[in-house]
Amino acid sequence: MSIRLRINLVLFAAFFAIASAAGWYVNTIFMKQTNEHVVKQAAILMESALAVRSYTVDLIKPHLDPLLEQKFLPQTVPAFAATETFERFRKKFPNFKYKEAVLDPTNPRDLADEQERAIIGRFIENPALQDTSGELFRSQSRFYYVARPIQIKNPACIACHDTPERAPATMRQIYGDKGGFGWKLNQVVGAQIIVVPAFEQDAAAKDMLKTIAILFAATFAILLVVINLVLPGRER
Ligand code: HEC
Repeated sequence: MSIRLRINLVLFAAFFAIASAAGWYVNTIFMKQTNEHVVKQAAILMESALAVRSYTVDLIKPHLDPLLEQKFLPQTVPAFAATETFERFRKKFPNFKYKEAVLDPTNPRDLADEQERAIIGRFIENPALQDTSGELFRSQSRFYYVARPIQIKNPACIACHDTPERAPATMRQIYGDKGGFGWKLNQVVGAQIIVVPAFEQDAAAKDMLKTIAILFAATFAILLVVINLVLPGRER
């Protein structure tokens, strides 16, 4: 075997060993960064939904409550305010989602789907659980979610969510008697769920990895050419 061939083989082997190790390492770092990023995004959005809820309760509801006798205004309902605000946000960021998913909701749009029912089940089974999070896949795309339980802690909630007879008549005119009733104090009725698109971050990380791989391969190729140029000619 010529010395040139031997040098080239050793260089190739070294390149593959270094490229595989570096690829694995960079990929691990990217995955960690992606996860940290989506976790943070979900936490920020959850806090902003909670802010809309408390704004509604503290600053809007007291002004509109006196009108309740004549006309029911869903704008006083924190769940409605948070959901509507997020729907507006979604016009620009459609891959994000916020839902007050409930097993037996007042507004049918809040009805929990199968994945959401599983999350709510976790809170029902474990009442001490304050939040839960994880991955979920929709149309084969990776998302990350954060959820908090919706528990009836305040007796004031029962005024509208106990029996249809006890609920304001003006509310029943809009929502009917079908759902959102029979909730008990301390019962976990649903979960606030924020869903953020992890697949967008995954794609960005993959692009970056590809760029690094190309740069790495190009550097190696140039090195290989240069080394072959300076090596003495064919051995006899
Ligand atoms: C004045 C009546 C009223 C009171 C009091 C009230 N709610 Fe509601 N709630 C409603 C109405 C009406 C809706 C449906 C709003 C919509 O259209 O999105 C609703 C919706 C909800 C939803 C979303 C799921 C669903 O049923 O559509 C949750 C969760 C909820 N309420 C929890 C509570 C909690 C917790 C309290 C107490 C802190 C409370 N509600 C007090 C009337 C009320």
